[in-house]
Amino acid sequence: MNRDAWRDFPGAPPEGTCICAAADLPVAGVASHDLDGFPILLVASADGLRAYVNACPHQYLPLDWRSSNILSADGETLRCSNHDAGFDACTGRGVDGLGQGCALDPVPLRVAGDWLVIGSA
Ligand code: FES
Repeated sequence: MNRDAWRDFPGAPPEGTCICAAADLPVAGVASHDLDGFPILLVASADGLRAYVNACPHQYLPLDWRSSNILSADGETLRCSNHDAGFDACTGRGVDGLGQGCALDPVPLRVAGDWLVIGSA
């Protein structure tokens, strides 16, 4: 998995770009944000907070386009709301249906003061 693939998406913001206030982090489920055209999906996975480019590799639609209810109750699996591709919520790896053989592109996260920003710790 290329951990820098997110940088290749159109409009990918630089490291340090604010996503949201740290107080607004999702404690369950997902939260999608549009950073001037760059779609990012925050996921309260079973393993903690993750972020992916919100573009399903099947047709590059936002995973939550048809429904925001895309994270399994145990926080382990993301299900694209468009055609039901399944992805491991902790790694982004495709695990079911149209997700098999592909993966979501992770985006690094860190907390800087009161903000969640893009970037490695
Ligand atoms: S766009 Fe996600 S499964 Fe088709």
